[in-house]
Amino acid sequence: GSAPIVMQRNPMFSTINADDITKFKEILGEKNVVQDEEVLLAANTDWMQKYKGSSNLLLQPRTTEEVSQILKYCNSRCLAVVPQGGNTGLVGGSVPVFDEVIINMGSMKNIISFDKDETSKVKAFVPIQSGGRVIFRKTTRAKVIFRNEATVPSLDFGCFVSIRFVMPLDLGAKGSCQIGGNVSTNAGGLRFVRYGSLHGNVLGLEAVLANGTVLDMLGTLRKDNTGYDLKHLFIGKTLNIPQLFEYLICYGDSLSVHQNLLLEAKRKLGNILSAFEFLDSHSMDLVLNHLEGVRNPLPPSMHNFYVLIETTGSDQSYDKEKLEAFLLRYMEVGLISDGVLAQDINQAFSFWRIREGVPEALMKAGAVYKYDLSLPIEKMYDLVEEMRMRLGPAAKVVGYGHLGDGNLHLNISLPEYDDTVLGQVEPFVYEWTSKHRGSISAEHGLGLMKANKIHYSKSTESVHLMVSIKKLLDPNGILNPYKVLPSSLTS
Ligand code: MLT
Ligand code: ZN
Repeated sequence: GSAPIVMQRNPMFSTINADDITKFKEILGEKNVVQDEEVLLAANTDWMQKYKGSSNLLLQPRTTEEVSQILKYCNSRCLAVVPQGGNTGLVGGSVPVFDEVIINMGSMKNIISFDKDETSKVKAFVPIQSGGRVIFRKTTRAKVIFRNEATVPSLDFGCFVSIRFVMPLDLGAKGSCQIGGNVSTNAGGLRFVRYGSLHGNVLGLEAVLANGTVLDMLGTLRKDNTGYDLKHLFIGKTLNIPQLFEYLICYGDSLSVHQNLLLEAKRKLGNILSAFEFLDSHSMDLVLNHLEGVRNPLPPSMHNFYVLIETTGSDQSYDKEKLEAFLLRYMEVGLISDGVLAQDINQAFSFWRIREGVPEALMKAGAVYKYDLSLPIEKMYDLVEEMRMRLGPAAKVVGYGHLGDGNLHLNISLPEYDDTVLGQVEPFVYEWTSKHRGSISAEHGLGLMKANKIHYSKSTESVHLMVSIKKLLDPNGILNPYKVLPSSLTS
């Protein structure tokens, strides 16, 4: 079954009528006003099959002007909307809760310009308030560079890895997520340890407010302290570096050992370190059992933790030597039990397949409760162990994530969703995180799942200011209602 939704539909919102449909067809043309049941079923359901809405209408704008007209109309009619990109979110943020109109941004996917020395504009979807355009500093993609125009339905730059440009963002969902959704949720992902938050990497944005007003914040200047930097209200660079990647997968007995390894990696590999990911042996087992063609590159062992280290530099033999020396040295001192350096790109992909395959394997194993936490690294795995003890054999408790950023993905796998188990997990997991001054939403966002949990990580004063800002930008609350902020404060 799906997660129980305890809230009520906000009665302030209107329901769709025949005049609305006529109006939307006028704005978008017949074929971009979608009422097809199959399309709607997919768009109403999230990636985990955990959250399901009941929207009867999906709109597909192609331009900022169309987004603006749709929102202006919805606002005047008090029709709630949910903007949707790749629908790869993990907290129920990208699907309707009730009958909100789905604004699908999949048609706004072209790269408007690509300047290999300066900036590139990507027409994309920016959901918190808008559809819009995003400017990155020095974007990526061979395809873009050579054709100067490309279809970018997703961040699937795996296919287009260029030797000169790299996106400062990588996610397991890269095959289907969209850049607008990534930016609006400030998605973290696999290379955060190197490139940092999208906040620092997005130069400009175009956003559409709830009432249809288009905000042009498409600046491309590096320095601009003129007034408030408004784009950060809507976010959540790409770098021009010759890129050569090296990969190492290794394992050891305890996560605290890997914490030391992380410190050493930061010291010894310095600015070529671009990913430091971990998974526990329970996650590894899930991947091996549920995903086809995946095998453990290391000999079978009793080791508890696997770490995937990636370096990105400009001098292949030097970078490789550095990583090799790193492996040997830390095997000698016992921080690593064993390790393998990828010999070619296929082997490198097979390492990443293991790490990126964990969420997919969990989905195949049944129902899953997902927690995305920032915690002090030295405490991080205690929570996984405590949870394992707490739940006993009824549930499989696994830990993986972005060790380099102190970001743990605690996942609880069950044959099906079970309220009794959920009652043992929550609020315990949030209280534990709060007690250790962590964040209950490191990179996935609050969405529907955690809208009423924000107080575990943010002060009352901060939450009230967020509510005031939301009300200023979206007085009728039509944009993605029931998400992010507690509904008791917003409706
Ligand atoms: C990941 O790091 O694999 C993603 O955040 C997805 C997940 O947490 O399951
Ligand atoms: Zn993650």
